[in-house]
Amino acid sequence: MATVYLGRVPLVFLFKPEYVRYVLVEHPRNFTSREISQPDETTASEGLLTIDGEKHRQQRRAVQPAFHKKQVEGYASAIMQYTQEAISSWHIGDSVDLTQSMQELTLRIIGKCLFGVDFASQLEALGKTFDDMIGSQAGILDTVFNLRIDNPVTAYGKRLSAMRKLNMSIYTLIAERRSDPTERNDVLSLLLKTEDGVVPGQLLSDKQIHDHILTFIAAGHETTAISLAWTFYLLSEHPHIRAKLQEELRTVLGDRPPTLEDIPKLTYTDWVLSESMRLYPPAWIQGRFAVDEFELDGVRFPAGTRVMMSQWIMHRLPEIWKDPLVFRPERWDPEHGQQVPPGAYFPFGGGPRTCIGMPLAQLEGRLILAMVMQRFQPEMPAGFQPGFNPVITLRPKHNLKARLMPVPTRDEASAAERRVLVSSMHDLSDRKGCRTALFDWLSFFRL
Ligand code: HEM
Repeated sequence: MATVYLGRVPLVFLFKPEYVRYVLVEHPRNFTSREISQPDETTASEGLLTIDGEKHRQQRRAVQPAFHKKQVEGYASAIMQYTQEAISSWHIGDSVDLTQSMQELTLRIIGKCLFGVDFASQLEALGKTFDDMIGSQAGILDTVFNLRIDNPVTAYGKRLSAMRKLNMSIYTLIAERRSDPTERNDVLSLLLKTEDGVVPGQLLSDKQIHDHILTFIAAGHETTAISLAWTFYLLSEHPHIRAKLQEELRTVLGDRPPTLEDIPKLTYTDWVLSESMRLYPPAWIQGRFAVDEFELDGVRFPAGTRVMMSQWIMHRLPEIWKDPLVFRPERWDPEHGQQVPPGAYFPFGGGPRTCIGMPLAQLEGRLILAMVMQRFQPEMPAGFQPGFNPVITLRPKHNLKARLMPVPTRDEASAAERRVLVSSMHDLSDRKGCRTALFDWLSFFRL
């Protein structure tokens, strides 16, 4: 563990899996998210990510049915339809911005599955709004420092202006739904019937519902899109792994689109996604605020201590992961015998606040990856270095623009495999170390 001072504010970074478990799983009630993200106009302070205690338990329980296995499986047809629509405009030889395409696709999916809305006509404007909100470099830092200057050049001012536009659309959606008696089965309908968990019998206010919606849209599309974008990048850099993935798709699916029944058979696809989120975890850092004093590994910390845990660091610790920087989906094969201690791999967080959208994200990831890779082989330009933009999520610094190549036939693939004599253990020089990424994030000069 190490303490870093941001001015006078101490942040305690925890670098061991057992510390992650201590905070997230064993003592979640003593570590809240609330103080780290002090509520203001730009944050969804009443959304699921930021509420705590009884309120959080009650409201999470109320919306949980929308994420049960059967319900999530019901989202598969929307995921497939929108993916099909997105890729039907792609042609072999096209250059496609995969970062942006995935963001628009996952935004459309989340709108439809959770709120019954098709964002098709607003994708560009919404994408830009979330870019300004999430992509602002100072996202967490300016909250910690309370830097809130509302003008068009500050990060805070940009977020505020983007937020105001988005707020209006969300409140309109709530008003429309309140006046429409049609029985529906989505998250918005559940939210309208949810009690707030503080005053018995009191339903959520418009502001609370608004914050939930905003949280679900923001948390639910950006992360999934980034995880897919990094996966396409990794596959383009590792042709032998891409060939194995495509062979699995040929064997299990042939030429037809995937169905729900196929999902459990797409094991290699699953390992590719797990391995991609190990190396490039979309949520790369999490913070908590200690309610009471606590002792960890013999060190005492006062109430109010801010602790930070990083998936980025934990997922690359050499004492846990063999060849930590190598992209090797096979390490997720249970027969491979990789031991992952609890707390060492947590792309979706852990404990009672584990990502509620995980089943949806996993279904989306598998279906979208399978459908794209069945039809195309996205290739990045030679020597392309995505770089990092470690904001709230771990974005590539440069959008991933890929050329769409045809998928080789089985014969072509095995001929190519024979030609590959050296494994594509490629140059890792651009993969800045976790500490460098942390320093980037902590750097005052980038405010
Ligand atoms: C690859 C995709 C995703 C990743 C990597 C991811 C990651 C995470 C992580 C690490 C947390 C825990 C945050 C914390 O404890 O402070 C979290 C929470 C959350 N995620 Fe996700 N997420 C993904 C997809 C989704 C989706 C599709 C949704 C849409 C519903 C979603 C909604 C949420 C919400 C509402 C929470 C707060 C849960 C709570 O505090 O009870 N996420 N996510």
